[in-house]
Amino acid sequence: MQAAGVVAASPFLPRMSLAGTGDFLELTARPGTAPLLGEGSPEVPIWGYDGAVPGPIIRGRKGGTIRVRFRNELDQPTSIHWHGIRIENSMDGVAGLTQPAVEPGDTFDYVFTVPDAGTYWYHAHNRSWEQVERGLYGALIVDEAEPAFAPAQDVTLVLDDWRVSPSGRIDEGFGDMGDWSHGGRLGNWLTINGATRPDIPLAAGRTSRVRLINAANARILELDLESLGATVVAYDGQPLAAPEALAYNPFLLGPGQRMDLLVTPGAPGTLALIEMSGDPFAFGQFVVTPADDQEAEAPALLPNLLPEPDLANAVEFDLDMAGGMMGRMTGAIVDGRYLEGEELFASRQVWAFNGVAGLSPEPFFGVERGTSVILNVTNDTAFPHAMHVHGHHFRIVARSDSEIDHRPWRDTFLIGPTQTTRIAFVADNPGKWLFHCHMLEHQAAGMKTWFEVT
Ligand code: C2O
Ligand code: CU
Repeated sequence: MQAAGVVAASPFLPRMSLAGTGDFLELTARPGTAPLLGEGSPEVPIWGYDGAVPGPIIRGRKGGTIRVRFRNELDQPTSIHWHGIRIENSMDGVAGLTQPAVEPGDTFDYVFTVPDAGTYWYHAHNRSWEQVERGLYGALIVDEAEPAFAPAQDVTLVLDDWRVSPSGRIDEGFGDMGDWSHGGRLGNWLTINGATRPDIPLAAGRTSRVRLINAANARILELDLESLGATVVAYDGQPLAAPEALAYNPFLLGPGQRMDLLVTPGAPGTLALIEMSGDPFAFGQFVVTPADDQEAEAPALLPNLLPEPDLANAVEFDLDMAGGMMGRMTGAIVDGRYLEGEELFASRQVWAFNGVAGLSPEPFFGVERGTSVILNVTNDTAFPHAMHVHGHHFRIVARSDSEIDHRPWRDTFLIGPTQTTRIAFVADNPGKWLFHCHMLEHQAAGMKTWFEVT
């Protein structure tokens, strides 16, 4: 338990320790140590932005420009992806597709405008199954140009799931094919902003904004949000038209996904736990502090302006996901060659989209800028997946043949085993864009493709 009085030093207050050079924020990927396992336990070796996990919160304003001078002080190449930003393609940070990886000792300037207000995040996008797992991620918050309301507190919570080995390390056993061919590297230790079971102070009687980011490699977080009495105001950064009550509890937040909540605690005292359902491990607790003034209900956030897909005239593509253990896939094309059985397993490419594992030289599809696109995704595997589209937000139009009326914008969607999901978006951002599973071991083991907008 944290003692009262350490709240000011709490990791929940935005940490913007970025030093500037001219207009540039400086951000360095380097090894460090972090007190992930809680007070009294030794610090754990990690890789982090500025040596910390999570990295500093990077904050911009809608329509503004973010300039980051990135330096790689790791001993392997890396790059930074700005997850959920409808970004210029050359700044998307996908090593091998939109830029060469940044070599050890090198720097790279990321300069991009942020068209949408909301909750985003940044993370390594080279060997991300290892680099993100070691701690290379942080929150990227874009404030509204004119805030709809002033929350009592604006709290960003980056949630992660670590695999701590008996020796107290988080970096053992990477690349295990059991993980890659099953549900990914699931952990046994949960942190919020790099802390174990922290107290999260919230003011009583006033509305706070709580931003949740799932930075775990593979774990779909099951969050008990009902007892919080929270309303949802945004998914994946994009505000809803009106605040909404939770449709179900526990709420599933997949790897890469975000959600913004409004919470107005009624009384002082410990408010609620966020925990894994069916798992006694509590994530953390909100601790309510009395406030002297009361406040009226907060209004909805202002929407960002995204182009609405024209469903009647959209171009449709089918994507069949296959592979993994207990799946029916017998073979796949890997680097232009059809492999099966032992040979396929030895290639470590055990998941495929439309029979192709990993990136091929040709895009999955190419369309002209402005085309409305529908993707029909079928999950013919025994596992759920968290599918992420780069550079665009989409609407989920139908799931397993039932039309969906409620269609918030998303950049990552969960799809269960045997489900089909139909998503739609306007391909309005020129360039080469990745579409992949955000369970990072699945991505590494073949679950990725790309499309091109010209
Ligand atoms: Cu958050 Cu391609 O990644
Ligand atoms: Cu997956």
